[in-house]
Amino acid sequence: MSPVKVLLLGATGHTGRSILDGLTENGNYSIELFVRPSSVEKPAVKDLAQNGLPIRVGDLDGPVEDLVYLLSGFDLVISAIDALSQLAQITLAKAAKEAGVGRFIPCGFTIVCPPGCYAVARSGKTKEEVYQYLKELRLPFTIIDVGYWYQLSFPTLPSGRVDYATPLVPNVTIHNDGLATNLLTDLRDIGRFVARIATDNRTLNQYVYTYGDLLSEMEIFGMMEEISGEKIERRSVSTQEIESAMQRAQDAYSVDSKSMGNLFALYVAQYNYSKYVRCDNTPQGAEALGYLSARELYPEFQPTKFVDFLKEVLDGKGVNPYA
Ligand SMILES: NC(=O)c1ccc[n+]([C@@H]2O[C@H](COP(=O)([O-])OP(=O)(O)OC[C@H]3O[C@@H](n4cnc5c(N)ncnc54)[C@H](OP(=O)(O)O)[C@@H]3O)[C@@H](O)[C@H]2O)c1
Repeated sequence: MSPVKVLLLGATGHTGRSILDGLTENGNYSIELFVRPSSVEKPAVKDLAQNGLPIRVGDLDGPVEDLVYLLSGFDLVISAIDALSQLAQITLAKAAKEAGVGRFIPCGFTIVCPPGCYAVARSGKTKEEVYQYLKELRLPFTIIDVGYWYQLSFPTLPSGRVDYATPLVPNVTIHNDGLATNLLTDLRDIGRFVARIATDNRTLNQYVYTYGDLLSEMEIFGMMEEISGEKIERRSVSTQEIESAMQRAQDAYSVDSKSMGNLFALYVAQYNYSKYVRCDNTPQGAEALGYLSARELYPEFQPTKFVDFLKEVLDGKGVNPYA
C-alpha cells in the first residue's frame, strides 16, 4: 500500500509535534510540513528540515490560489494551529476543497463539550465556525477531541518536587466535591491516536474522542499522595464559586477582550465549569454528542496510564509544556 500523503500544520507546536511523532512512528504516512513564511528561519523549523522533513511554505493570509497549488496531491491535511488562530483555517479548508484533498482534520484536540456551550472565549466559538464551514464545503473531515492533557492535570506537592513539570504552581484545588471524572490524554499519545484515526473509513465525517484515563480529582490527588508519600493540602471550591468565577471572568473579558490575561482567565473558568459542573468531558458526554470512542475503535492500542505518567514526573522525567 502506498503511503498516505499528509500535510501537517503546527509541527513546531505542542499538539503538532505529538502528531508528527505519531505519524512517523506509524510508518504509513509520507509527511510534509506546512510552515508560515515568518517561521521559516526558526531553529525549530530548521531542525525539522534537517531531519529530512519537506517544508512547504504557505501564507494563510495570502491568495487562496497559492494554497490550492501547495495542497494539490495531498490525501490528508491536519491542522494543529494554536487556540487563538483557529479562523485562519477557513482559507486552508477552502484551498483543501479546491485541491481535492481527501480528508481535513481541523484543530480540535480539546475537551468534549456541546457546541456553543463552552464557547471557551474565542477558541471554542471559532473552532465551531471552522467545523461548520467544513460541513458547508462538504470537505470530508474528522474532528478529534482529546479531553485534558495529563501534563496539565496533576496537583503540585508541598515539597515543590513536581513544580518543574507544570505551568500551574500551586495546583491544589479540588472543584466541587472532586468526584467529577474527566477524559484525560497524555500529550505524547495524541499523535498515536491521530495516526490510527486519520485513515480509518469509520471516522470519516465523524467526531472522535480519545483518552488514556478517565479520572476524578479525588482519584488523581489520591494517586499522587500514594506514590509521592506526601500529603497535599487541598483547597476546595464550590459549584457556586466556580460559577461566580466564570461570571467575573466573562465580565472582565467583555470590558477588555484584548487583554491576554482576561482571555486566559476566561478559558480556565469556562473549562472548570464544563469539566466539574456540567461534567461534559466524559464518555457519556461525548456519546450524547455522537462522538465515536477511539478506545473502542482501536482496542489493541494501549495509551499511557496516568499513574505511569505521574511516576515519570516524580522521577524527574516530566516536561513542562510551557517552560
Ligand atoms: N486538551 C488540552 O488540554 C489542550 C491544552 C492546550 C491546547 N489545546 C488545544 O490544542 C490546540 C493546539 O494548541 P497547541 O498548544 O498545541 O498550539 P501551539 O503549541 O501554540 O502551536 C501552534 C502551532 O501552529 C502554528 N501556526 C500558528 N499560526 C500559523 C499560521 N498562520 N500558519 C502556519 N502555522 C501556524 C505554529 O507555528 P509557528 O512555529 O509558526 O509559530 C505552531 O506550530 C489548540 O487549539 C488548543 O485548543 C488543548
